[in-house]
Amino acid sequence: MKVIIQPNAEIAAQAVADFIARALSAKPDLVLGLATGCTMEPVYERLVQKHRAEGLDFSGCRTFNLDEYVGLAADNPGSYHHFMRRHLFDGVNIDLRNTHLPDGMADDLAAECANYEKLIAANGGIDLQLLGIGLNGHLGFNEPLSAFRSRTRLQTLSRMTRVQNAPLFASLNRVPYCAITMGVGTILEARHCLLLATGAEKADIVAGAIEGPLTAMITATALQLHPACTIILDKEAASQLRKDDHYQRLTAVQTATPLLVGKS
Ligand code: GLP
Repeated sequence: MKVIIQPNAEIAAQAVADFIARALSAKPDLVLGLATGCTMEPVYERLVQKHRAEGLDFSGCRTFNLDEYVGLAADNPGSYHHFMRRHLFDGVNIDLRNTHLPDGMADDLAAECANYEKLIAANGGIDLQLLGIGLNGHLGFNEPLSAFRSRTRLQTLSRMTRVQNAPLFASLNRVPYCAITMGVGTILEARHCLLLATGAEKADIVAGAIEGPLTAMITATALQLHPACTIILDKEAASQLRKDDHYQRLTAVQTATPLLVGKS
């Protein structure tokens, strides 16, 4: 696991966008796993800028989002389908047929989950999976006690998660109770995982995820098992890390020798 600490949230988001842009330039048909949440908005804003200003090409890119709420149509402003179109897909030259999110309106949700796994496999697996982290340590919507080997499935959302995500809805009672999410096992199969966390409110859970013991109570601790995982933080999100100074020194070395960044 590589922990890179940036001075503030803007520079951290820029570093994540640069990381994705490098991966896409190196492999134009990149299979990119995508995440939602407020933390990702500045990352997508910068990717759109890179497309417009530098011609970053998404035409061959294939994407798979981590999750989607159950019961929300794609045009519902609270849905992740809507979030992705608004923040990324409509701003770049991606072919919408190459973008994938679970269908939370499917009649047979179990079949939808199984098909999502098959579709990821049929595309050769995920090259780079972008991740945020929930206040309870979830990845995607893998709530506490999600098995490390879990696959794409239906999840009931915790109250903490519904409260955290309520700002994207008119009120708390509009936040769905269930979602489809890639499993922890599905996420761990990505060739590279890239997690971004910013802000003081994430500091405790980030410290638990990076330095705490492995536990299904904090599903992000599963990333400690991943052979190629990069975590980019701002100073506030990093503030509860015990080995803070060690990571800062590593960041300095990696900045001086950028080829090291991204390799574990
Ligand atoms: C939702 C998503 C997660 C994301 C989390 C963080 O719960 N399902 O994938 O990590 O939001 O949200 P934010 O970035 O708004 O803190």
